[in-house]
Amino acid sequence: METKLLTTDDESLKIAAEILKDGGNVIFPTETVYGLGADALNPEAVKNIFKAKGRPADNPLIVHISSLDMLKDIVEEVPENAKQLVKKYWPGPLTVILKKCKNVPYETTAGLDTVAVRMPVNQVAKRLIELADMPIAAPSANLSGKPSPTTAQHCIDDMVGRVDAIIEGEDCKYGVESTVVDLSGEKPALYRPGAVTLEELEEVLGEVEVSVSAKENETPKSPGLKYKHYSPNANVVILAGEWEQVECFIKGKTDLSRIGMLVFDEFPKIDGVKCISLGSLKNPYDAMHRLFWALREMDKMGIMTVYAPEIADKGTWRAVRNRLYRAAGNEIINLSKGDTKKILFVCTGNTCRSPMAEAIFNKICKEKNINAKAESAGVYADGSLVSTNAAEAIKEYNIDISERVSKNINKDMIENADLILTMSASHKMALNYAFGDSEKVYTIAEFIGENQDVADPFGGSLEDYKSCRDMLYSMIEKVTEKI
Ligand code: TXA
Ligand code: MG
Repeated sequence: METKLLTTDDESLKIAAEILKDGGNVIFPTETVYGLGADALNPEAVKNIFKAKGRPADNPLIVHISSLDMLKDIVEEVPENAKQLVKKYWPGPLTVILKKCKNVPYETTAGLDTVAVRMPVNQVAKRLIELADMPIAAPSANLSGKPSPTTAQHCIDDMVGRVDAIIEGEDCKYGVESTVVDLSGEKPALYRPGAVTLEELEEVLGEVEVSVSAKENETPKSPGLKYKHYSPNANVVILAGEWEQVECFIKGKTDLSRIGMLVFDEFPKIDGVKCISLGSLKNPYDAMHRLFWALREMDKMGIMTVYAPEIADKGTWRAVRNRLYRAAGNEIINLSKGDTKKILFVCTGNTCRSPMAEAIFNKICKEKNINAKAESAGVYADGSLVSTNAAEAIKEYNIDISERVSKNINKDMIENADLILTMSASHKMALNYAFGDSEKVYTIAEFIGENQDVADPFGGSLEDYKSCRDMLYSMIEKVTEKI
């Protein structure tokens, strides 16, 4: 498909508005991130948004409006607390979820009876909605799973050939997506922190329930919560600890060429490491503005692992922390607890044996209060979800690993681990071949003085997976006794 590149003058916006009226899709700037818009009331137009982004169909869209009149056409009622909240924060980076009315197709809300609505303050967005004279459904204009686009160039990089037009506006003022608050239920609930903070919401609404991460074994209230988000190609890891500990950790790396760091202006420099500053520690808006851009820059530089600092869990920082920690898949290395033993389990695809081993190991350590933590990786992993049967088998321990995405092993993971345990002798050989012989690498059996490999249940029945799990359990119990 040919993608028109448009400017922000009125003539161009009229062209964009015509495309929307014809059921097409247009990428446009907002104050948060760029959005990929289509007529929110046209099911076919909305379906094309999902197609263009590669977005799962069960993740609903935000509907953008330019006046309160438009709101009346899409929601059943506007409760009193919603009236007060939007009076204060619209137009602006706030999305509210309300009960939808019949006009809004289930394609837009992904089958839900509620609809998310936002009135952007960005003048190009506002003018486009006015000219098109319709509510516009728009998710962030990135390929699904990638960091949201905060510049026109990001949209061009991801979406040329996939959409009808891109309006090349300014860089987004805030740089992270809007705050999402649900006002359709009994209690207000925050699903996504943004530039409008929890504290600000509570000033108007009273107590707000926070459900920004999907809990184990629970269908998230906001479908977007369950998807891995904002991830660059690089592996993102949070380093928790004092600056001296961080410096010592980084300097201990043998190859700095493919390591990147997100830092603050106040941090001292580390020679030979590619750093991108998120601005000053005093200004969360700097960090908000730069985060997604910085993650994309790291990919352009071919960085393999991005180390990032801890971010405070309060006020405006909460939005930055939420996006960064999700990009990291919550992988945090705690440098202060230097004595935490880091174990890495390795199998082939990191979808069956090693994720089960990781979950079992962490469960046993928690129960026995052992100061150790396991991760897992594969020698040929391709970012797939964990196998359904492996997740089923582990669910019996009340642990949900079903959203886990496989990771391919790299040199950095090898260096970060204190002990590496493989399922079979061939995995050990593969590691030693690729990364050089290491005294840290054993097969699990070898480590506990036994000799059987853990066979691959891949493609087998749930029973096969359960017996593999039970075998791993008894072996890993012995591992925890030894370390
Ligand atoms: O700042 C923003 O909100 C940007 C710009 C373009 O406006 N849009 C955006 O859309 O971030 P998107 O689709 O990337 O994120 C929408 C989030 C998703 O996590 C989705 O699950 C949630 O809002 N959501 C939408 N409708 C919902 C509903 N009815 N109930 C619960 N969650 C909903
Ligand atoms: Mg998004």
